[in-house]
Amino acid sequence: MLENALTIDDLKALARRRVPKMFFDYADSGAWTESTYRANESDFARILLRQRVLVDMTERSLATEMVGQSVAMPVALAPTGLTGMQHADGEILAAQAAEAAGVPFALSTMSICSIEAVKAATKKPFWFQLYVMRDRTFIERLIDRAKAAGCAGLVLTLDLQILGQRHKDLRNGLSAPPKFTPKHIWQMATRPLWCLQMLGTRNRSFGNIVGHASNVGDLSSLSSWTKEQFDPRLSWKDVAWIKERWGGKLILKGILDVEDARMAAASGADAIIVSNHGGRQLDGARSSISALPGIVDAVGDRIEVHMDGGVRSGQDVLKAVALGAKGVWIGRPFLYGLGAGGRAGVARAIEIIRNELDVSMALCGKRDIRTIDTGIIDEAPWPVPATRGPRAAV
Ligand code: GLV
Repeated sequence: MLENALTIDDLKALARRRVPKMFFDYADSGAWTESTYRANESDFARILLRQRVLVDMTERSLATEMVGQSVAMPVALAPTGLTGMQHADGEILAAQAAEAAGVPFALSTMSICSIEAVKAATKKPFWFQLYVMRDRTFIERLIDRAKAAGCAGLVLTLDLQILGQRHKDLRNGLSAPPKFTPKHIWQMATRPLWCLQMLGTRNRSFGNIVGHASNVGDLSSLSSWTKEQFDPRLSWKDVAWIKERWGGKLILKGILDVEDARMAAASGADAIIVSNHGGRQLDGARSSISALPGIVDAVGDRIEVHMDGGVRSGQDVLKAVALGAKGVWIGRPFLYGLGAGGRAGVARAIEIIRNELDVSMALCGKRDIRTIDTGIIDEAPWPVPATRGPRAAV
């Protein structure tokens, strides 16, 4: 079945049949009217590429670096909450698939498998994503645990001090671990393989949190829990102490505004991720890809700029790289793969993205991802900074 999946959409259709509705919806939805969620995807389609012919297309290379780390292609698996609810041991399986493919994996604070469990099941360092909660002692310990696990980078999320209005989750009464109301029991009973695999693991709650922070034995509702625990006062001053305590590569995720990008560049962080949290936070904000060129123009010479949001193909990756992204993060594409078929499904998602990236790059007349610039863009609906590199060069 997985072999028949040719696109990320094919994996999504498979995942929908295998993952209980409340968890599939959690991954698949955006905030409020979902206009930003949709724009993230549809704005990619508004960018046109330049087709070039009769150029040598042999010996192509997608290899490059992200935040000083060698990667097989400029793609990373984004930190996503509740990944272990798309499939039993989801974070472990995704980290293993990423490792085998030579791309970074970032573990979410809101993961089901703990930092230590992922560390024990992988060989290479992964990255860790941090949400800052009111309980600073817990956060300090969490940073120390990521350090102790040898994590190669810390991704600090800036755009979720309070949770966006997520209607699907509210209607589904989402919680982790799953509630046992008749509706939820029905959703799980109709996904027997998922249930069976879930019964085979002990990773069924927030592994980084339960047993490590006070007052979190009962995670009855995700939205009320984040309301109580996440720190709404998070500020640029906090970025400074987190950077200091962490002492390694720091990536700031959730920048969509040029002013914020300038402050991020001044903060001493190593990279930023242009992001609107996959359209899950401020509905009505612009798409990530449309924000990217302006931010690259403003700070691209001072800090490494990455992006996430709406990437559903390798061709989208190519467009983001052309507009200046040094790294492109995928969330839903790998989650659909995970729901569709565990580790093999994530591997398939990565392979689909890789093939599409490779073919699209070649048909633009390019052989090395490191030479991609705005020269391969024919038309975009927003101002694109002057060509970085000669437009006609192939
Ligand atoms: C968590 O990061 C979420 O977007 O649900």
